Amino acid sequence: AAVVKHTFLVSTVKMKHLCKETQVTVVNGQLPGPVIDVTEGDTVAVHVVNKSPNNITIHWHGVRQWLNCWADGVPMITQRPILPKHNFTYRFNVSGQEGTLWWHAHVSCLRATLHGALIIRPRHGAGSYPFPKPHKEIPIIIGDWWQKDLRKVAWNMAHDSFGDFPSASTINGKLGDLFNCSGTPEDGYELHMEPGKTYLLRIINAGLFFEFYLKIAGHKFKVVASDANYVSPFTTDVIAIAPGETMDALVVADAPAGRYYVVAVPTQPPLPDPQVEAHATRAIVQYSNTHSPGSGAAVAGGDQSCEEDDDDVPVAPQMPDEHDTLRSFYFHGNLTGLPHRRPSPVPLQVDERMLITLGLGSVCRRGQSCTTGVHGKGILVASMNNISFEPPTMKTTPLLEAHYFHTGDIDAMPEFPDWPPRLFNFTDRGLTPWGPKEMEVERASKATAVRRFRHGAVVEVVFQNTAILQSDSNPMHLHGHDMVVLAQGHGNYNATKDVASYNLVNPPWKNTVLVPNLGWVAVRFVANNPGVWFVHCHFEFHLTMGMATVFIVENGSTVETSLPPPPENFPTRAAEDNLVPD
Ligand code: C2O
Repeated sequence: AAVVKHTFLVSTVKMKHLCKETQVTVVNGQLPGPVIDVTEGDTVAVHVVNKSPNNITIHWHGVRQWLNCWADGVPMITQRPILPKHNFTYRFNVSGQEGTLWWHAHVSCLRATLHGALIIRPRHGAGSYPFPKPHKEIPIIIGDWWQKDLRKVAWNMAHDSFGDFPSASTINGKLGDLFNCSGTPEDGYELHMEPGKTYLLRIINAGLFFEFYLKIAGHKFKVVASDANYVSPFTTDVIAIAPGETMDALVVADAPAGRYYVVAVPTQPPLPDPQVEAHATRAIVQYSNTHSPGSGAAVAGGDQSCEEDDDDVPVAPQMPDEHDTLRSFYFHGNLTGLPHRRPSPVPLQVDERMLITLGLGSVCRRGQSCTTGVHGKGILVASMNNISFEPPTMKTTPLLEAHYFHTGDIDAMPEFPDWPPRLFNFTDRGLTPWGPKEMEVERASKATAVRRFRHGAVVEVVFQNTAILQSDSNPMHLHGHDMVVLAQGHGNYNATKDVASYNLVNPPWKNTVLVPNLGWVAVRFVANNPGVWFVHCHFEFHLTMGMATVFIVENGSTVETSLPPPPENFPTRAAEDNLVPD
């Protein structure tokens, strides 16, 4: 196994889209950032040099960080952030996982431009894929383009001020020709395909807000993996992908030679929210035996493929209705695992069960009384079991450090509560543009709540969506562990009845689980990776508003099952005070 080294220079640069120069914080001047391409078993060392004016951490989304929580990159949860003019080297091993993951900044909204693919190849080469070896593998990162200052956007989200939406959606950093600058279409990403060949698309949703439907005109996808776990291959003409998820899909270039649009459409609440400007974006698939427009001559073998009248206009796909959330429900329901390719068996004996509701609530402003409700005097927050997560401030010790060194503040953290059994009324939703009538917006409280698990405990979590915001499906992401997805459903989870629908035979393993709108999803994980792990919604505004909590996994009884001490040069308070920045 190799040590794969990268240097990530984080800086603020200007990029021009839609006729406007915008300051963006990126790695090595590029958007998306560099691809980390490694082989299972390798060690990755990424030296992050922070030349930006922001505090930075990088999270390796989906990397299990086995016995290595220190490298997980969550500010004030696992580490102090890397201050401007400081640097830090993340070191981690990628064993027991293969497929597509990604990395992103985990501070404010900066992940919109600080992200890239992290690809883990099989140890024995592409021949060991549980599907035919593809001709080429291509990362496809769906994201958003923001003309607003992302730090301002983050501040607004955390302070009950809405109305910031991306200016455009992107595929591999390009806006595509549905957007234009004074009449000149923006460049779109071009994907070149040779007729008859098979391509593995490694699709990542790095956007802050939107779940996307993705299609390629004239082609079908065979989905083969998600979140770096193989799935039983299934064929579909549309991929549904929520923020944080990855999907690996094979595409065969078996259409007539030509040009085809690749379209990503943000999905929308069933009741359109007039404030949301959702934008479709498109890239182009270009067959290599077709000349591209403006290139003048046909390439070799060309005449049958170059009918002059239609070669300039790519074929466009028929997209699903963006309000059709059922497509996503069924798409995600089609994911089943490949048990023989997964080292750990499906956990059958459950030690702890939790029901976690995802909702919106209101908290009163400091020192004031208020009524509940979106427009009561309170501040609107997002919550889990009515607790809105309050991240530890820079004045405190990061939770992992406090946990490891047993400093007092960790024991003072409130325990993440259980949810008292109750049912939501999903039929009388009384929809308003912002969601249901105020019944679902309840008094919440802000806390840095944590939940502790004994080492090795099998934990079943049912994430229950409430009727809040009518529609949002919530991509819930657990750090440090993959979860098996046992079942999903609409309405209220019913413990007696719904266990019957659990797939205990070949459930998919995921690090980001989509909780359907107005429904629930049941997952299990084995709490065997000691450390302090963030669990949160990957919709940025839900996260920023507090839809998060922390799972603490205790050490096991042996050295091999215990968290080792922090790595060298770990950012500490003392270092910040004493070190002269370089
Ligand atoms: Cu990809 Cu905590 O996030």
